[in-house]
Amino acid sequence: MAMNVAIDGPAGAGKSTIAKAIAKKMGYVYVDTGAMYRAMALYFLRVGISPDDEEKISSVVDNILVSIKYEDGAQHVILNGEDVTGMIRTEEVGNMASATSVYSPVRTKLVSLQQELAKTTDVIMDGRDIGTVVLPNADVKIFLTASVECRAKRRFDELVAKGETPDFDKIAKDIEERDYRDSHREISPLKQADDAILVDSSEMNIDQVVETIISYINK
Ligand code: DC
Repeated sequence: MAMNVAIDGPAGAGKSTIAKAIAKKMGYVYVDTGAMYRAMALYFLRVGISPDDEEKISSVVDNILVSIKYEDGAQHVILNGEDVTGMIRTEEVGNMASATSVYSPVRTKLVSLQQELAKTTDVIMDGRDIGTVVLPNADVKIFLTASVECRAKRRFDELVAKGETPDFDKIAKDIEERDYRDSHREISPLKQADDAILVDSSEMNIDQVVETIISYINK
């Protein structure tokens, strides 16, 4: 049986940084499920579909093929044959992903892809519904969170490092809105699984979070 570790939590809690570091240390494959929702969102943006148009979104889902591949251990997301890895990290795509991941046809498609990946491979998978829906039998489930202020500050610093001049209040407001939407949607809302371990990273650095989670995995 493959080893499955699930990490769920709100946007900006550091899930991908932490999961990548753990995957490297433990020799697991890191699966970033948010990137899959982002690839779908990029498709919707490109064809100009409104995030409110559920009917249209449902009708084009069958035209979208999302897959992932690994190059030097890094996940690449392929959208209808095109590697879109470098195009999905914008706020626009993130907000579109949050808005369109509420629809059942979008989720059904990506959840089955994620479940297939975890069947045969030791994975650490991050997202919103991994411990609750995608891998309910995961060997270890972590719910990684941090305060809104702390997550906004991290995002702010990232953007400053990229040479941008971000607006802190706008970032914090976006995070709050995304948290609300992700945790109040009807299907597979962001929620701590009953058997997940809560890790609050507000007062911890990356190494401390990584070591804490690895100690749970080794138990
Ligand atoms: O983790 P992220 O910011 O890349 O995810 C983008 C959006 O995708 C997130 O706001 C909600 C959605 N998502 C989801 O619904 N389920 C997942 N397992 C992962 C992401």
